[in-house]
Amino acid sequence: MSVVPPDVLATAERDPLSQLFAPDRTTVPLLLAPMAGVTDWPFRLLARRYGAEMTVSEMVASQAMIRHVPKSIKMASRLASEGLVAVQIAGADPEVMAEAARMNVDLGAPVIDINMGCPVKKIAKSHAGAALMRDERLAGQIMAAVVGAVPVPVTVKMRLGWDDGQRNALAIARIAEASGVRAVTVHGRTRAQMYAGEADWQAIAEIKAGVSIPVVGNGDVTTPEGARRLREVAGVDGIMIGRGAMGAPWIFRSIAHYLRTGEHLPDPEPAEKIQVILEHYETILSFHGLEIGNRLARKHLAWHTRGMVGGGRFRERLNHSPNAQETRRLLREFLGVAQCDGEGEGE
Ligand SMILES: Cc1cc2nc3c(=O)[nH]c(=O)nc-3n(C[C@H](O)[C@H](O)[C@H](O)COP(=O)(O)O)c2cc1C
Repeated sequence: MSVVPPDVLATAERDPLSQLFAPDRTTVPLLLAPMAGVTDWPFRLLARRYGAEMTVSEMVASQAMIRHVPKSIKMASRLASEGLVAVQIAGADPEVMAEAARMNVDLGAPVIDINMGCPVKKIAKSHAGAALMRDERLAGQIMAAVVGAVPVPVTVKMRLGWDDGQRNALAIARIAEASGVRAVTVHGRTRAQMYAGEADWQAIAEIKAGVSIPVVGNGDVTTPEGARRLREVAGVDGIMIGRGAMGAPWIFRSIAHYLRTGEHLPDPEPAEKIQVILEHYETILSFHGLEIGNRLARKHLAWHTRGMVGGGRFRERLNHSPNAQETRRLLREFLGVAQCDGEGEGE
């Protein structure tokens, strides 16, 4: 039996990131990316079950949070059983960000993540998200204010910069390190790129080489080979996966297995997929309520049924389903006959 000294345990409990990025780990941690409208707790739970070691909430607007807007409080909520979740906050006012961080920690957030990557115009107009990267002084003030406000670790998620003329992710990462931020995630695109082109993993390597805090690489990892290449190219301390997990939460298990053994795990059997889909739908309903849940679940069900025989027709009917009762019926009817052959209609 291994005996962990109590002081080590206490440190790990206080500071979950020291465990996540422990230097003596033999495997690289896999993280679920924050995705607005996607990474609520029903989806995070699935990612966690399949091996995501940390998940990140949807972006929560700090202004709305401190005004106690119910929708934002709900977005920031997590289940105690979820394990390591970073609650991501967005905003451009250091005091408001600090207050929103404090509120989230009071609600139980084990990690606070600062959004410096959101490319959306509405967010950028208020100087939040990726726009913060254009104002290094303000970015630094926000990081220092948030780090100073909460006893839990703070992380930052950013892009490479605003555009090709302003690729300052390394400068921001250095400011983050100096401000006491514990890890940075870099999505290998500029704001101007939005989601076009390919993520530049080489650029992530330059940031990794330039700071001592852990650097998590993100962008376009959708296969086990991709994860291995990102790790080889950039030497990152963690790999964050977003779109690749949509409708395929088992991607974390597949990648972890491949990185450990060099071998591919087969996709889950149809019975396992069916169980995941039904369970996901029900947890969405229980969190969001029957009406909103039924609407929000559509995109997840569409992703889940990609590549299944008859999936196209199912999704068409799903889009016209007026309520949860009908969706349940459609879902059971469809899954009762569907076969996951990986070819089907594809997408
Ligand atoms: C639907 C969607 C919503 C997103 N919402 C957020 C967000 O709220 N906060 C954030 O930092 N990034 C957000 N992102 C960016 C992702 O976290 C990630 O950086 C990006 O998708 C690249 O990773 P991927 O190629 O693995 O998807 C979002 C991406 C998508 C597709």
